[in-house]
Amino acid sequence: MLTKLLFLGLVAYASAAVKLQEVFSWNAMDWNYPNEYLKQEAILSGALIRENALPVGIERWKNKLFVSVPRWRPGIPATLNYIPLDAPHESSPKLTPYPSFEENEVGNCDTGLNTVYRIKADKCDRLWVLDVGTYGYDPNVTNVCPYTLNVYDLNTNTRIRKYVFRPEDIVASTFIANIALDEGPTCDDTFAYFSDELGYGLIVYSWEQNKSWRFSHSYFMPDPLVGDFNIAGLNFQWGAEGIFGITTSPPGADGFRTLYFSPLSSHTEFAVSTRILRDESMVKAAKFNDFKVVGNRGPNGHTTSKVMSDTGVQLYNLIDQNAIGCWSSSLPLKPENTAIADKDDVGLVFPCDVKIDDDKNVWVLSDRMPVFLEAELDYSDINFRIFTSPLSNMIEGTVCEPPSFAISTPLPSQSLAPSIPETSLYGLSVNYPSRSYFPSVSLNGQRLRSYSRTIPDQSYDDRRFIDLHRGSYPLTVSTRSSTNDPFTFDKSPWWIRSTVQGRVNGRQY
Ligand SMILES: *[C@@H]1O[C@H](CO)[C@@H](O)[C@H](O)[C@H]1NC(C)=O
Ligand SMILES: *[C@@H]1O[C@H](CO)[C@@H](O)[C@H](O)[C@H]1NC(C)=O
Repeated sequence: MLTKLLFLGLVAYASAAVKLQEVFSWNAMDWNYPNEYLKQEAILSGALIRENALPVGIERWKNKLFVSVPRWRPGIPATLNYIPLDAPHESSPKLTPYPSFEENEVGNCDTGLNTVYRIKADKCDRLWVLDVGTYGYDPNVTNVCPYTLNVYDLNTNTRIRKYVFRPEDIVASTFIANIALDEGPTCDDTFAYFSDELGYGLIVYSWEQNKSWRFSHSYFMPDPLVGDFNIAGLNFQWGAEGIFGITTSPPGADGFRTLYFSPLSSHTEFAVSTRILRDESMVKAAKFNDFKVVGNRGPNGHTTSKVMSDTGVQLYNLIDQNAIGCWSSSLPLKPENTAIADKDDVGLVFPCDVKIDDDKNVWVLSDRMPVFLEAELDYSDINFRIFTSPLSNMIEGTVCEPPSFAISTPLPSQSLAPSIPETSLYGLSVNYPSRSYFPSVSLNGQRLRSYSRTIPDQSYDDRRFIDLHRGSYPLTVSTRSSTNDPFTFDKSPWWIRSTVQGRVNGRQY
């Protein structure tokens, strides 16, 4: 119902992006006040200066789309806000403070919020929010409050956890702008990771232990050779910017997720198992090689925000290219295995944040940040946009689509057992044991939505996935009635070198 309402309003607002549909757009941000008098008062007192507001983070949870606005300049009435998605569609909705104006009070280190960048909701209906405690922007920053993690119960709109980072978690240059969650089987078993872009660190917080610790590694550092940026006609240098975009993978065969990360001034992707990060003793005991080089996105591959689907597809913003890129982690990361999922030289100038919600919709916020920081925004023009698209639509027809394979021989039956060659299987799995695939199965050109498989010794029971380990997997395709129509597995994935062997009702193919 919600999605329907939302997408109905979209057609009229479509921009040049092909797959992403523009849902909201603004020349300047604005806020909802309890009444017009209070709003006029806020404008007169300087508590609201609309042109100073730059949205940087988004997150969708049920009927709320959260939007964060850092207090880089004065006149930002609330740093954490939302747009109700079940309200009648407006193309430029005003922001509503979350949970309230009072709980966004700057300088109130007890119950307020100062500056919030990216935010993350979890499957236990909690919203994870890091208040970096600052007011202003480099070189004019005041640290009003300490770095404080705030976790909200989204069902009651109350803060259920407040945790102040330890002094040891922070260094003098610390600047934390991104967050990733590592959700275990229970709500207690949740870890949050924070990338310290300018302090070159990774801070881990355990919900269960209510405790944090900090990792350092030279892979968190910027690559000095790619610190020059050309965006929106501006040339500037962000050569000191280290670890920025972070996201966790689905759980791997060992039960642990992988944290993918990349410095902003870099085209390289790195990773570390959360088995390392979750263990505080690893701060000292981790070996250099516990952190891995995953691969390279290629030229103009700067990124600040990434997210991985539960099928292992990573989406990331390509800030030099006004685009969202994708990469399926089933393939080695190199430029030819990545794709531009969508691009728009007007609407996607600085795609600042990218998220995937529980309904497998992608959300993208673009905000022309370099123009805001390095020059001046033109407020007669649209500067900020929020887009959405189903994930499947976003990656359709690209190299990022989950792999599937073809058996051209007509298969007069409902059960077949593709046998996967051992040699190619382990080509990639040395570093990353997590290998989940969702091959698409078609019947006479029609994609089948569900089928089941039997895989011995597997920890997953998600019926949609086939976990690649060496061996032969009986795969049962369910159809309404018995049929002689052929089942086809579209396309050939990288891990099958020649032909797929299938066994159908005892017949070998
Ligand atoms: C720093 O902030 C003060 C007070 O808001 C302002 O007067 C000054 O111009 C700012 N300096 C810079 C470099 O932005
Ligand atoms: C978590 O730690 C913080 C210290 O920052 C403390 O104030 C808070 O009471 C603790 N919460 C729980 C639930 O233990």
